[in-house]
Amino acid sequence: MYMCSRNLAISVALILVLLPLFNSLPHHSLAKRSTFFEIECKGVFNKSIFYRLDRICEDCYQLFREPEIHQGCKEKCFSTEFFTGCVEALLLQEEIDKFEKWREMLGK
Ligand SMILES: *[C@@H]1O[C@H](CO)[C@@H](O)[C@H](O)[C@H]1NC(C)=O
Repeated sequence: MYMCSRNLAISVALILVLLPLFNSLPHHSLAKRSTFFEIECKGVFNKSIFYRLDRICEDCYQLFREPEIHQGCKEKCFSTEFFTGCVEALLLQEEIDKFEKWREMLGK
């Protein structure tokens, strides 16, 4: 019994460690790059900034599980009210100035 739960704990730990690794594989960043153009960003592609804004939309989707919100959040390079709504829902209003500055860098 003890061994069994120990193995389970190890499996869970492994999954937790491996999942982020899969997310950071190269094909993923390629996908990100094309998304940049797909959502009509016309500015400078800054991977770290793009990732941070994209992350807000992903977290928002985790919260609401609504594909429309996910889609809307990224639309027009994160400039719709969906994005603002997600920032509020995720309690990140304090950082909205920073996000808007970033959005301008990506979007123009
Ligand atoms: C991306 O933006 C960050 C924050 O403004 C900046 O520190 C970094 O140098 C930029 N990276 C590139 C490649 O422009």
